[in-house]
Amino acid sequence: MKTTKNQQCYAGRTILVLMAWYAMSFSAYAATADHTQFKPGEIWTDTSGEPINAHGGGILYHDKVYYWYGEIKKGKTWMPEANRSWNGTRVDVTGISCYSSQDLYNWKYEGNVLPAVKDDPNHELNTSKVLERPKVLYNRTTKQFVMWIHVDSQDYALSHAGVATSNSPTGPFQYIGSFRPDGSMSRDMTVFMDEDGKAYLFHASENNATLHISLLTADYLKPAGRFVRVFEGRSMEAPAVFKHQGRYYLVASGCTGWAPNEARSAVAESIWGPWKELGNPCRGPEADLTFRGQSTYILPVADKPGTFIFMADRWNQNNLPDSRYLWLPVTFTDKGFEVLWQTTWRLNK
Ligand code: DGJ
Repeated sequence: MKTTKNQQCYAGRTILVLMAWYAMSFSAYAATADHTQFKPGEIWTDTSGEPINAHGGGILYHDKVYYWYGEIKKGKTWMPEANRSWNGTRVDVTGISCYSSQDLYNWKYEGNVLPAVKDDPNHELNTSKVLERPKVLYNRTTKQFVMWIHVDSQDYALSHAGVATSNSPTGPFQYIGSFRPDGSMSRDMTVFMDEDGKAYLFHASENNATLHISLLTADYLKPAGRFVRVFEGRSMEAPAVFKHQGRYYLVASGCTGWAPNEARSAVAESIWGPWKELGNPCRGPEADLTFRGQSTYILPVADKPGTFIFMADRWNQNNLPDSRYLWLPVTFTDKGFEVLWQTTWRLNK
């Protein structure tokens, strides 16, 4: 059948419109598609389509919203001479990110809530320093959001815990300062708030050899003066703590820089101990290397008693911004708990 010039022109225009529509809807889809599953180890985009940048992080649940705080890993990965012996690559400090979510799959970027200080080389938040493993608590009495964070010099010799506060979960956080809690060295850390509102700092101390558990003051801003030394000489890093049916559980890694190692776990009837080691909780491929990851937080899922998510970082030590997240379900056993590898999974409804 023959077509007229007009018909050809119309068909051409229709094809162009359809192509433009397809391109537009595809890019809109890429930017806003809802995640409906966890995909451990894959690039996880936020609601604007950018990879989530919140490493060594922790989660606060407040007024029905989850807030994820983490290290922003951005820019060139390089090796300071002082860290060469233990393979301690770094990126310069950018700050601490915050993301919000109501379903745990889809996260909205809320901004850099504790930005690095660029113009003062001596400032503890200067780009040349170390700022790791932020964790945020909400203090019901002071109504402040309190961030605890590992603050260090580039060679990790300072070994301080830092504190910053905000009136809003999405910041900005005001940096208060840093110190050695209870006079002791402090590197990898987490905070844990018990059901009675008391909060504790768990931190790798004594040059990473021994973990300290330190009660915080009622305002969560300082150590209250009571602490215990646990897992003496066991060199645990990356502590994460949770409570289930009255028992306290801990996951941690060994001490091998960014390289993965076998996770450890422990249980206690009292936060002060005694803590009993339970061994590696990971099950599945590469379980002996924590699935090539390192613990950072154990998240109790709101309104689902007994449901916890193990959160870990799969560091890429030669390209730290390309480090990934491993979120995996926790299951309880007679002896303790396990973390089972899944390629994709979702929470039970
Ligand atoms: C292991 C720690 O767990 C990380 O937070 C980080 O400090 C790296 N070491 C640096 O190599």
